[in-house]
Amino acid sequence: MPQPITFEDASLQVPDEPIIPYIEGDGIGPEVWAATRQVVDATLRATYRGRRAIHWTEALAGQRAHDETGSWLPDETLETLESHLVAIKGPLTTPVAGGIRSLNVQLRRELDLYANVRPVRWFPGLPSPLRHPELVSAVIFRENTEDVYAGLEVAADSPQARALRPLLKQACGWDLTDDTGIGLKPISRTASKRLVRAAMRYAIDRQRQRVTLVHKGNIMKHTEGAFRDWGYEVVRDEFADHAVLFDDCAGDPGARILVQDRIADAMFQDILLHPERHQVIATTNLNGDYLSDALAAQIGGIGVSPGANLNDERGRALYEAVHGTAPDIAGRDLANPTAMLFSAEMLLRRIGWTEAADHIETAVETTIATGTVTADLAPRVDIARPVGTREFTDAVLAHIA
Ligand code: NAI
Repeated sequence: MPQPITFEDASLQVPDEPIIPYIEGDGIGPEVWAATRQVVDATLRATYRGRRAIHWTEALAGQRAHDETGSWLPDETLETLESHLVAIKGPLTTPVAGGIRSLNVQLRRELDLYANVRPVRWFPGLPSPLRHPELVSAVIFRENTEDVYAGLEVAADSPQARALRPLLKQACGWDLTDDTGIGLKPISRTASKRLVRAAMRYAIDRQRQRVTLVHKGNIMKHTEGAFRDWGYEVVRDEFADHAVLFDDCAGDPGARILVQDRIADAMFQDILLHPERHQVIATTNLNGDYLSDALAAQIGGIGVSPGANLNDERGRALYEAVHGTAPDIAGRDLANPTAMLFSAEMLLRRIGWTEAADHIETAVETTIATGTVTADLAPRVDIARPVGTREFTDAVLAHIA
């Protein structure tokens, strides 16, 4: 019987027929979601022979929600996601002129999904601009609720900015000209620490040897610099048995996890020149957004990069690809469904259905390795001929016996 997933004793309780909500998404969302649902259902049938199945339930958001209900993010959708711990979503449009805040940012904040987890790993067949792409295998933990993404900004000509400028002059001595917009970059001890804690737990669980804290603390000392200091505090106070700081061990961690930090600009150089040095990356919101696209480009592009928004304390997880709605190719059978397929694979691992997750991973990797790829990957792969979303999906399905 279909049942929701529950969270007891700090772990997920997953019935054999869990109810899992999905948001189809905008742009290429319906195409990549259709492919994903088809592959996941076929994989579950092949792996569990009727003993396990997912009952998908739709939650509306984005353009379709707006057209059908007048709301971009209906309350009912938030309630569904509140009451079902694990869900998956396609990309959602943020209308540039519409004046509404990003729905993704809203969802992450409303559900307190504080860690955006983005694994980036090369495998054979993926076109990479690097000579040794096999050295890239990193997971980014991006803080999801704070930073300049918190949406605390006011326009230069607004009454709020007019009121704030003299206050800031009085309290902080800041001279801002009358044509200055103002934004806040909140970075708190609590949010920084829980993000680094989640990254450390992940490194321990997955036996990763290196954790890098990325920040721009040389310039933004009380936000980015504080993130680094609080991160190191967590490592020292809570993970001393498992991890050691670079400075405390002269670079020789023994069997423990080596924790180091990088200033963001140097990090972009490091992931190109020495990708093997970075396995788990914990960083603030904006740095994490930039870094994940840059790392994804190193292994073949955002068409193959999955992600998850997590809150481990509450057992909550919302899976989504790194990419957006790709309006330039939407509805044309051109989208690469790999990122969404891998997001579903992450979901299956989260609920403990590891055999099915392995099955999807192998099927997608084999499809790409044998030269069946969508157009975003094709121009750079010699042996490949580009196929459409549906043909790619059929090729993946053919590898699922
Ligand atoms: P985008 O990721 O949608 O597209 C960037 C480029 O990558 C485009 O050339 C696109 O065709 C290509 N691309 C993306 N995904 C692809 C796929 N699966 N297969 C093949 N090619 C792919 O980023 P953009 O253009 O900055 O954003 C478009 C819209 O998406 C905006 O409204 C933005 O707010 C939204 N967005 C939503 C996200 C989410 O829901 N999590 C994340 C990023 C953007």
